[in-house]
Amino acid sequence: MARITAGLSTSHVPAIGVAVDLGKTQEDYWKPVFDGFEFSKKWIAEANPDVVILVFNDHATVFGCDFIPTFAIGCADEYAPADEGWGPRPVPVVKGHPELASHIAQSVIQDDFDLTIVNRMDVDHGLTVPMSLMFGQPEAWPCRVIPVAVNVVQYPPPSGQRCYNLGKAIRKAVELFDEDLSVQIWGTGGMSHQLQGPRAGLINQDFDRDFLERLVNDPVELAKMPHIDYVREAGSEGIELVMWLIMRGALNKDVVERHRFYHVPASNTAVGHLILENKDS
Ligand code: DHB
Ligand code: FE
Repeated sequence: MARITAGLSTSHVPAIGVAVDLGKTQEDYWKPVFDGFEFSKKWIAEANPDVVILVFNDHATVFGCDFIPTFAIGCADEYAPADEGWGPRPVPVVKGHPELASHIAQSVIQDDFDLTIVNRMDVDHGLTVPMSLMFGQPEAWPCRVIPVAVNVVQYPPPSGQRCYNLGKAIRKAVELFDEDLSVQIWGTGGMSHQLQGPRAGLINQDFDRDFLERLVNDPVELAKMPHIDYVREAGSEGIELVMWLIMRGALNKDVVERHRFYHVPASNTAVGHLILENKDS
């Protein structure tokens, strides 16, 4: 059967993608960010997952104001990097896993989560930046990817609790898939940041560090935190952190923490990153 072997979380700041694409990763400003992913790149080369379920948000790139699914799952063969206004990133096309994705859709929808099925979608920085952070600049991405898109752009986003429960339903679905696959789940976005209005530039390091700790060791209580706490403490775009709870819900209650990284600043955002392994795997 397929198994979720590990989960990881990372911010998906678009300027990180620009730094990779323009060869600026070793510049003074960016080096500390990329140094935080050195361990991660070695770790994933060794873990060599078959499939990554990549939880991200589309930033009004594909889903405009015309339609805004709360949760969507990509069931396509492949996903092209999106043009976000200055041309698509020069990164490989993302190869999907339509069989596992359709299986997850069937299982999770019948488990009472209303996923929107997406058969064609370009993917923006929310998905491609984490791929670059973890895999660098390969000719082709080394694993299949199932995009799971979450609305955290237009109010109302889903609650942390619902995200956590969705993670559990995704795990159940994966374990019902009758093929030996090593599957990881990634939660992206966050940490604290606010891109607009009088509070633009807000960073709350205390909140972020506490969130990292609770996500690892007290996710059940953390999942109960209401939206208003994210927005007040972590800024309007800090709500992206609910996506990390989907990742966490798909793992065991007790996990092995392989890596934790936190760095400010990267553009307007505090970069946070965790690698968690399921204890029994
Ligand atoms: C920034 C961060 C994001 O997560 C995003 O989607 C856009 C911009 C930033 O820090 O600049
Ligand atoms: Fe974002």
